Amino acid sequence: MEQTLSLSSRDIEQFHDLGFLSIPRITTHDEIAHVRGLYDRLFEQRAGWNNGDFFDFAGLDDLGTPATVPQLSEPSRYEPALKDMIFRKNAHALAQQLLGPGAELVFEHAILKPAGIGGETPWHQDEAFYPRFTNYRSLTFWMPLQPVDQFNGCLEFIPHSNNGPLLQHRSIKNDKRIHGLEALGVDESGKVICPLDEGGATVHGYRTLHHAAPNRTDGPRRAYALAFGVRSKAYTLREEFPWNLAKETAREKRAASAQGIMGRYLAGLKKSGKTIIR
Ligand code: NI
Repeated sequence: MEQTLSLSSRDIEQFHDLGFLSIPRITTHDEIAHVRGLYDRLFEQRAGWNNGDFFDFAGLDDLGTPATVPQLSEPSRYEPALKDMIFRKNAHALAQQLLGPGAELVFEHAILKPAGIGGETPWHQDEAFYPRFTNYRSLTFWMPLQPVDQFNGCLEFIPHSNNGPLLQHRSIKNDKRIHGLEALGVDESGKVICPLDEGGATVHGYRTLHHAAPNRTDGPRRAYALAFGVRSKAYTLREEFPWNLAKETAREKRAASAQGIMGRYLAGLKKSGKTIIR
């Protein structure tokens, strides 16, 4: 895979119309095999636990109970080799086609659904997770590190939801101690299930409704997601979404205490609903 990928004008149209696109091949089998090893080591070590980058997306984030949807934010901070991936280079090139030349990586995360116990990722829009100072609108390349289908948790999408409103969200099971969100009032009758072969990926917009089923198989479902956006130079600040303001997660507490006195101060301001200058 020498050359970087490019999308056809039809692909680009489909992405903007439906809100998602499947890319049959975004990297090589060799890269997937190599990254699987790095990925498994990061999850075994719970890299980033102390500063809140590693947490259970769908549970109470308590070390005594196995996480059903463990997530590692910013994995390349803990494994710099991930910055050199063909996946990253290709995703960046495609993001520039979809968003314009100013598209840059804004966020990355790894989400594991462990064999047998991997939980559901409820329907949500990524925009619902945006903190109030977010200055971009992202799209996300989601690449599994093994084949995926509806039995181990491939992504599913609601076509055209990218052009609809941001729905109300709440913490999973309406439990504010849980980081993950679920959208309310989703009509999933038109959903499209996107299985992928190894080396493929999907890309979806910041407002596209998406979901992943539990992993019912006896192998892990590993996924690696890269989000790109064009940062606005204008100063943007809006009210924090109420479902994020309401959260009281163990992850947030670890993050605040790792950031020291300033982190705890900013976390306190967030809870008091006052403006945070950043
Ligand atoms: Ni998402």
